[in-house]
Amino acid sequence: MSTTRRTFLARTAQAAALASAGTGTLRALAPAATFPADFAWGASTSAMQVEGYPYADGGGRSVWSVLDNDPAKVADGSNNLVADDTFHRWADDIPIMQSMGLNSYRLSVWWPRVLPQGRGTPNQKGLDYYDRLFDALLKAGIAPWVTVHHFDYPAALDQQGGWLHEDSPKWLADYAHLLAARYGDRVRHWMTINEPNIYWGFMVESGGPPLSKHYDHDQLALGAHRILEGHGRSVQAIRAAARKPPQVGLPFAGMFSMPASDGPADIEAAREQSFALVPTELGSNSIVFGSNGWWLDPLYRGEYNQACFRYASSLSKLATPASMALIRQPLDFCAINLYFGGHVRAGADGKPEAVADPPEMPRSHAGWSINPELLYWAPKFLYERYSRPIVVTENGISLTDKPDAQGRVSDPRRSAFLRDYLRNYLRASREGVPLGGYFHWSLLDNWEFTRGYAEQFGLVYVDRATQKRTPKESVSTYREIIRSRGAALAGG
Ligand code: BGC
Repeated sequence: MSTTRRTFLARTAQAAALASAGTGTLRALAPAATFPADFAWGASTSAMQVEGYPYADGGGRSVWSVLDNDPAKVADGSNNLVADDTFHRWADDIPIMQSMGLNSYRLSVWWPRVLPQGRGTPNQKGLDYYDRLFDALLKAGIAPWVTVHHFDYPAALDQQGGWLHEDSPKWLADYAHLLAARYGDRVRHWMTINEPNIYWGFMVESGGPPLSKHYDHDQLALGAHRILEGHGRSVQAIRAAARKPPQVGLPFAGMFSMPASDGPADIEAAREQSFALVPTELGSNSIVFGSNGWWLDPLYRGEYNQACFRYASSLSKLATPASMALIRQPLDFCAINLYFGGHVRAGADGKPEAVADPPEMPRSHAGWSINPELLYWAPKFLYERYSRPIVVTENGISLTDKPDAQGRVSDPRRSAFLRDYLRNYLRASREGVPLGGYFHWSLLDNWEFTRGYAEQFGLVYVDRATQKRTPKESVSTYREIIRSRGAALAGG
């Protein structure tokens, strides 16, 4: 069966029947035309993609430092030694956020900036930087949402075995404790580890940068388990150290399937596939750790999918009741990063069957499919299964728009993306999925790891030579959506 995006978008009337499946209970709500009043409207960045100057004032090396002088490994030969220089220019960006109407900003602390060896003696100057930044954000009425660890694993810890070392969960938790003790009087929203499935799956299991190591199944399962334990211990550490009651979550890269039709069998197939262990084919590799199916049930339910034990029999020794209880910390919100997804239908045997994207499927510069309905299905599936309020902590599109002769950056595709995705998110809200916020990736065009500066996800254009910031035209679209709490999404 061939389906198109138009078909998917036409499903605006389906509601209550879908809402009743699964374990979560969707509230029967009168249709709400707007997002909740206390909704977090934000944009996201991460330290190693925007700050620059990693070694200033005594900062240490991360595993990504291997790319400092290795242009051949980065698409445009760049590195992140300067990036957007928010290390020095953060004060310029705050008025831009205010002008958009943001009440929240998701950012990360650069682990080796504050702990150059990953643990041990903190770097006071590094810690001072974030004090200044958080204070200024709060003064501007913008709540910092802080990710403890966003891909920036300290090189010194990697040299000791990284996530395969038995102390690695404690290393992360000690770092989280340091941050919560220092900033937890002001920062209320915390996220432990960004996208463990992207880091451990697409970056490590793939054998590519930054580690360029090859681990066997048992080592991969062990590292993933320790990452989960590191998360659990960090949640405990944040709750113990923060002076104001914190809200804690883990921003996961959602790999969701959407139903190829409105039929209940296809919807059930999409739901099943979204939580199964589904390998991703990446060149000649088959990546298992990118899948929702490895991580989400341990995090929210304290249990592994049976397929994980078939992948690595050694996992059964690790997954003791005490360890699974540690991993399954009560989380205040389900943080999810959503960009694209695939479609499935129920096959002849009722099992999920992938449906190829139609040739006319619109794509971003990075080649990612544009699937606005992802912001309906993923929050709905997540809430049904885990019963936590949803916060989309990343969602965005890479484009290549540059300033015109008048210096304006026109990015109509980003405006359309914002409207289409947020319209679907609002639909989830109308059907009773509690939503806590939306963070667009990204505030600024920034450094995309091995893709360098070639993928421009920013609401704000950054001139690489001068660091001049130019808000793109999509900023007005986002501002209007925020101002109206989504009412502006009604109609066209
Ligand atoms: C990551 C970001 C990245 C974005 C776009 C997410 O996987 O959390 O660091 O820049 O996707 O590629």
